[in-house]
Amino acid sequence: MIPQEFIQSLLGRVDIVDVVDRHVKLKKAGANFSACCPFHNEKTPSFTVSPSKQFYHCFGCGAHGNAVGFLMEYSGLAYPEAIRALAETVGMTVPETRSSAPHPGGAEAPRLAARMMDALAYYRAELKKSKAAIDYLKGRGVSGEIAARYGLGFAPDGWQNLEAVFTDYGNPSLKDTGLVIDSEPEGAEKKSRRYDRFRNRVMFPILDARGNVIGFGGRVIGAGEPKYLNSPETPLFEKGRELYGLYQARRAIRDANQVIVVEGYMDVVALAQHGVENAVATLGTATTPFHVAKLLKLADNVVFCFDGDAAGRKAAWRALEISLPVLADGKVVSFLFLPPEDDPDTYVRRLGKAGFDAALEVAKPLSQFLFAELASHVDMATEEGRARFLAHAKPLVAQIEAPALSAMLRRRLGELARLDAEEIQRLIPAREPERRSSQPRGRAVRAPAPPAESKLLGRILVRPELAVTVPVDVLNGHGPEAAALLAVLEFFRADPRRTLGQASAYFEGSEYQAPIAEALAEPLLNQADSPDFDLAAEISGLVEKLRAEHLARRRSELARLLDAGTATPEQEAEYGRLHASLATAKSGNPPAEERSKL
Ligand code: UTP
Ligand code: MN
Repeated sequence: MIPQEFIQSLLGRVDIVDVVDRHVKLKKAGANFSACCPFHNEKTPSFTVSPSKQFYHCFGCGAHGNAVGFLMEYSGLAYPEAIRALAETVGMTVPETRSSAPHPGGAEAPRLAARMMDALAYYRAELKKSKAAIDYLKGRGVSGEIAARYGLGFAPDGWQNLEAVFTDYGNPSLKDTGLVIDSEPEGAEKKSRRYDRFRNRVMFPILDARGNVIGFGGRVIGAGEPKYLNSPETPLFEKGRELYGLYQARRAIRDANQVIVVEGYMDVVALAQHGVENAVATLGTATTPFHVAKLLKLADNVVFCFDGDAAGRKAAWRALEISLPVLADGKVVSFLFLPPEDDPDTYVRRLGKAGFDAALEVAKPLSQFLFAELASHVDMATEEGRARFLAHAKPLVAQIEAPALSAMLRRRLGELARLDAEEIQRLIPAREPERRSSQPRGRAVRAPAPPAESKLLGRILVRPELAVTVPVDVLNGHGPEAAALLAVLEFFRADPRRTLGQASAYFEGSEYQAPIAEALAEPLLNQADSPDFDLAAEISGLVEKLRAEHLARRRSELARLLDAGTATPEQEAEYGRLHASLATAKSGNPPAEERSKL
């Protein structure tokens, strides 16, 4: 847990314009800055960054957020990581507070990270000294430039080389790096010995999204077992979540709107060597749902490229199964099968980038792979075979939530099984669209017009200095919008310099986050800066509307008391006053009850 006060002062210190500009070149456009949106493909800029709001917003795809949110989206960082990265840029140190649920890596993480960096520096220096390792990499077509880009290194032979790197080699905490192993206790004194995990291996550092070393893979030079040795899971390294090469590939992935997933370290490196820079590898584990979710967030097109052998096909099938529930319309997952004797490394070395690109062109879309694989196990010429085909397809197709894709797959299934649409619908019903907790871009579909509280909330968020003009006593309405509005007003009134960026950080994860997101989802963010848009007038209009609603509510309440004969004389007098004032208002405006239905 990072204290909210820290986050607030951090957001008060950084300028989102600098933060974004470091990654996406911004151009001045009036009071704001603009660029082509990094979150969707476009030719003309609809991405704007507002220095006064400390907020970015794309009116093409609806992406929006503060500086922390930008780093999370752009660099794929987790919340605490993004805050740390941001803090570094202004020389602030994130206070470490103890908490029952520490962030991944725990409080020891910074120290561990430094140790991993030291190890990397050592391995890299050793590579420069080792002719055998250099020759090995050269023999595999890896240039010095690519070796440097991927931070390749070498762990020399010997049991305790890392003593030269870590002066506290015996320190129990060094085990958390995964770089040393303690032997089973043996001998009379039951002593265990500590030794280096990686010996005589070419080292592939595994980086997180920020470029921190979180683990290593080490390959034997030439033949030997095991061929690859990997870091164990450590406080820094969780294999099922990480992708090798992502740090280096990020930009290329974004530019191509495509990410290629391969199996091996060397595949990633060899592809990069030949100019295919948008490849990443899973880390000796099967594809996990985390991987797929991460990949689909990075690009609209995900191509799994597995070896052409039986193991590769199996891995591809597993990736398909994992992908089904997370597929969304607009995302394309496909599968590239190389000839059985090849892997991406050998293939790209043989045929170059052009050859690999040509293979990518004919990658099989998920649906094709799915049906081809299922059909290959049955005799599609017989009724029995097609029935079995359907039985196997059913649980798979049923997992697809993406409405258009699901409809198309079910139709294709019908064609292949020779059943009509009605029969398919009966056998495999279309899914009821589920209410997802995180709707894409938070743009909730909402039929009725937003209540006045929500409109007011949105306007205050984009013009916080007007918070002081809203009298809170008229806001005793109920519902999430009213509660969020009160909280936001209080937040801005406490310090008029606070920005939308700070508010969004403050209310992140709170019960007010949803009503705030909804209030902002209006085209408001663009209009707010337009000179013909008189926000102050809109706000006072909304306040008047709320005041009238409030008074009308009060009047009905009093009327009920009067009808029941339980009203006090004061209440009776109040009713009289209210009735009179609302009657005068009526001549100009329709009564609040009727207006709120408009
Ligand atoms: P491969 O055996 O396909 O290796 O394993 P490769 O990448 O083609 O290796 P080269 O070309 O012979 O150098 C693919 C991946 O599976 C994991 C590694 O992550 C490897 O990159 N693996 C493989 C291991 O973790 N341990 C092993 O012993 C073998
Ligand atoms: Mn290989």
